[in-house]
Amino acid sequence: MSFLSHRSVRRNLMVLTASAAATLALLPAAFAQSPIVIKFSHVVAIDTPKGKAAEFFAKRAGELTKGKVKVEVYPNSQLYKDKEEMEALQLGSVQMLAPSLSKFAPLGVKEFEAFDLPFIFDDYSDLHAVTQGAVGQKMLKKLESRGITGLAFWDNGFKVMSANKPLKAVEDYKGLKMRIQSSKVLDAQMRSVGALPQVLAFSEVYQALQTGVVDGTENPPSNMYTQKMHEVQKHVTVSNHGYLGYAVIVNKKFWDGLPADIRAALDKAMKDATTFEKAIAQRDNDLALEAIKKTGKTEIYTLSVKEQAEWRKALLPVQKDMESRIGKDLISAINKEAAK
Ligand code: LMR
Repeated sequence: MSFLSHRSVRRNLMVLTASAAATLALLPAAFAQSPIVIKFSHVVAIDTPKGKAAEFFAKRAGELTKGKVKVEVYPNSQLYKDKEEMEALQLGSVQMLAPSLSKFAPLGVKEFEAFDLPFIFDDYSDLHAVTQGAVGQKMLKKLESRGITGLAFWDNGFKVMSANKPLKAVEDYKGLKMRIQSSKVLDAQMRSVGALPQVLAFSEVYQALQTGVVDGTENPPSNMYTQKMHEVQKHVTVSNHGYLGYAVIVNKKFWDGLPADIRAALDKAMKDATTFEKAIAQRDNDLALEAIKKTGKTEIYTLSVKEQAEWRKALLPVQKDMESRIGKDLISAINKEAAK
């Protein structure tokens, strides 16, 4: 009896050892089949600077991690609209976003609205002095207390204004219902020219313009063109009054929990995607404006020197009015970096 049981124990042990070895042999294959998935949600079309850079990042992340990370990009508000995507990131339902800088104040980081201030940047080089310098890095750090890690700033471009009537003089804005993003600075900007700002999610803008819920809007040409807003807006004014760009952000807990070598590879992929994005943003916007013009559906107007001066005069006080919300020191630090 004891002899039999000894034999059966030995047999069981052998079976166990064999199955453990088989499991171990399978492990690499199992890992290869289940990469770490990063869901990257955004609200614009694929054929925009942000859309293209997200695709670029996904491809580069796959290459640099040798397939250990799979970035799934969900464009065009497919998964979430503006407000919902921020909540989804914090809850961990998605891991990565690139919201416009105008959409961060509801998280409690009002400083990001500094990017919305009219005429705060003259051009991309002014902007890059801030986003790539100490001021930009300090702003990204502010997100950590919200459970978010800021990885990079991505560009879009300088905004144009649109409506179904010509927008030349400041008075032309009086009483117009203008769609804006959820930013108090943009609200103040529209009110400063007598317009009535209305916050709407990006995915709702085309329909709101089409049905007359709002009369007009502002955005860089790349967004306007790819959402076909020009089909429902007869006039576009190249006003270059403000900038629209992005912060690429991840859920901090997810990011910190990644193996160090994977995080390093993803950092490199993000760096490459950011370089790529910076190289295409301005050109994409120039081409989009050309394409809008070519449709013949929308008249493009460029402000004369005199109109530009009046326009600046009307909007510039917003910088001062918003000091108490955004911080006088931050605004002067941005102005200082931009002036370098
Ligand atoms: C908008 O809502 O107008 C923009 O933020 C969309 C975007 O992400 O470029």
